[in-house]
Amino acid sequence: MVKWADATDGVRLPKTDEEMWNPPQTAPDRILRMCNAFKEAKALLSAVELDVFTALAEAPLDAGALRAKIKIHKRGARDFFDALVALGLLNRDRHGLYSNAADSERYLVRGGATYIGGLVNHFNTLGYPQWALLTRALQTGEAQFGTDGLYRDIYGDPAAVESFAQRMSGGTLPVATALAAKFPWAQFKTLMDIGCSQGCLLVTIAHSHPHIAGGGFDLPLLEPVFSRFVRESGLSDRLVFHGGDFLVDRLPSADVLVMGRVLHNWDLSTKHILLKKAFAALPSGGALIVYERLIDDERRTNAVGLLASLNMLLLTAGGFDYSAADCFAWMREAGFRDIRTEPLTVDQSMIVGMK
Ligand SMILES: C[S@@+](CC[C@H](N)C(=O)[O-])C[C@H]1O[C@@H](n2cnc3c(N)ncnc32)[C@H](O)[C@@H]1O
Repeated sequence: MVKWADATDGVRLPKTDEEMWNPPQTAPDRILRMCNAFKEAKALLSAVELDVFTALAEAPLDAGALRAKIKIHKRGARDFFDALVALGLLNRDRHGLYSNAADSERYLVRGGATYIGGLVNHFNTLGYPQWALLTRALQTGEAQFGTDGLYRDIYGDPAAVESFAQRMSGGTLPVATALAAKFPWAQFKTLMDIGCSQGCLLVTIAHSHPHIAGGGFDLPLLEPVFSRFVRESGLSDRLVFHGGDFLVDRLPSADVLVMGRVLHNWDLSTKHILLKKAFAALPSGGALIVYERLIDDERRTNAVGLLASLNMLLLTAGGFDYSAADCFAWMREAGFRDIRTEPLTVDQSMIVGMK
């Protein structure tokens, strides 16, 4: 009988002869599953790119009709459709007719109010190829897609501005809906969204709280997109666009300032500068709301937040995501008091600080 105890340095040694000669085996399943997750992702991304779910919105189709409708070659079609069945994105009945699964019908049929295909296409055309360069970004510490300014690169032409703003709104809507319900808006009159993009957050909150007025601050390029969205929402009399560059200009004042998924784009010193500018723009008693995909304070469990931060490595010169504890410290340093955090959606939380 071998009588080794657990080693004090944390390495577990075998306690019995049996264990020494037949160490417990773990299959590499979990590791291989993770390695192959990209195939699932790409099958879904291609399905949205090819508009499979819209093709099935009117009526179920057999493989031949579906293939003809989305214009793909015969060879991979059956495997593709059945892979989508196996992934729970399509159903196939006993007559071989394909139809949308409930989630696919709700979120992936073009033209519906809950369609998130714009965001999915963003992952397909940008995120997916960009992440192929992660190793190089880790080796160099540099953004892989132009370093002269993330937004100058993205906003190449008016169509690019419009499509980026629409994708932002896809991610903002659930946050804005939660924020409209969870923040004590009755105590405040004016609101300014810093980095407002299309204005989705402002419109959502203004609709829920008719006493709130204010506007959004963003690069001047966003003005036409913002103004049209706000006009179509019937809120032009309450929500006004302020064009400017927050790296250079002072921020417009309001009782409540919001910075949603803005700070993570920038390096630490710029984060500090933006928080100080927000503090300066608020009246005494005013509030700053920051929302992001926060990393857990221990930096151990929230893989989504940590991977989002690697996305910033790939795309920005110095951006990174952060924990609530990090943001509390920066906000305290900028002068904020009574700082608190609260979850808004499954993956995004707000941090509120008072002046
Ligand atoms: C990641 S988006 C977040 C948009 C929105 N707050 C949301 O949560 O969906 C960052 C926003 O900051 C704006 N932005 C970037 N650089 C800016 C600058 N220097 N001055 C003003 N706005 C800027 C971008 O145009 C974009 O709308």
